[in-house]
Amino acid sequence: MTKKPIRRIPSAGPSITQAEIDLVTEAVTKGWYEDRNMHMDQFIKELHDYTGAKYVLPVVNCTSAIHLALLALNIGKGDEVIVPDVTWAASACPIHYVNATPIFCDIEADNWCISPESFKKAITKRTKAVIPVDLYGNMPDMDHIRDIAADHDLPVIEDAAEALGATYDGHHAGTLGDIGVYSFNATKLAIAGQGGALVTDNQDIYEKTKQLRHHGMAEYQTKMFWCEDIGYNYLWTNIQAALALAQLRRIEDLVAMKRKAFHWYTDRLHTLDLQFNIEAPNVRNTYWITNAIIDKHYNVTKEQVIDEFKKHQIDSRPFFYPISSMPAYQRYVHGKDMTKTNPVCYDLSPRGISFPAAATLTEEEADYVCDIFTKVLKRKK
Ligand SMILES: Cc1ncc(COP(=O)(O)O)c(C=O)c1O
Repeated sequence: MTKKPIRRIPSAGPSITQAEIDLVTEAVTKGWYEDRNMHMDQFIKELHDYTGAKYVLPVVNCTSAIHLALLALNIGKGDEVIVPDVTWAASACPIHYVNATPIFCDIEADNWCISPESFKKAITKRTKAVIPVDLYGNMPDMDHIRDIAADHDLPVIEDAAEALGATYDGHHAGTLGDIGVYSFNATKLAIAGQGGALVTDNQDIYEKTKQLRHHGMAEYQTKMFWCEDIGYNYLWTNIQAALALAQLRRIEDLVAMKRKAFHWYTDRLHTLDLQFNIEAPNVRNTYWITNAIIDKHYNVTKEQVIDEFKKHQIDSRPFFYPISSMPAYQRYVHGKDMTKTNPVCYDLSPRGISFPAAATLTEEEADYVCDIFTKVLKRKK
């Protein structure tokens, strides 16, 4: 029996070193008055250098970045936006904010990202954009997605909230669409507590989103507090930018930690009938969270595993529920049988478990999690 861990094993959380403490301390002590944006400006520069995106707009969180992206594309009432059914709800709720209709499509069975065929099938005359999601640090088949989008003149908003550090054909996650968005919330690979960024190579989109980010104010040199639009208060703070900047400087180490954790799990669980996330030859998957889809013959649900884990001081998470299955989104489903529209989502989700994925996870803890998990499955069999 593997030794009991010394702490309750967290489901997610950051790696904080002296580098983060130093930069945040600097932000708190010096980042005011004429230096009030010193870390924010540096963050913009370094995220630009890292991803290659031409314009970087930091915002209060990724949900607001998606909201601004939809507004900049003039998406509104009567429009439809296609989004995968399995993702965090934040990919879809901004579609509701702009009074447009989310259309939920299926995912692929192997990479768990948007299915190109299902996306294509979901396109109507009302479709105005698609939001492919780089789920759990993996990448969709972006060539295919972009080709379909281009054939129908649809802008692509790449939701890379979970995938900073992933690459596709050597290009960074977030830079493969017309607009990309990142999250720096406390569970992500690089964190700021809360935070987000919108990236684009399109100057018009950048300027429009920048204006809407701060109450629609124009950037006049002489006339302050002059609103040209009704915007939002989606400004980030310099202190949060300092924290994210320190994390960004450690991004390759953070990716390495996640990839190592993935191998701790897969090495120990390889004799069980599980499906792990894949990594296509042209992709670097960050494995932000290691998930396993439990084979049907074990006859166990993700909720049962989560409950068993809890009894053993392990916190874990369910693989995302199909958005179309949740009460809040029934208004967009209209009683349709979504298990037929999105069979892969509905097949995988009940059997998907997100293993503990804090950046501070140790090999001994992974050992313990695998030990308990194996016992749960063997008992159920
Ligand atoms: C796929 C996806 N999209 C969007 C978001 C929203 O990010 P934020 O929490 O920064 O608003 C998240 C974060 O939880 C996410 O996982």
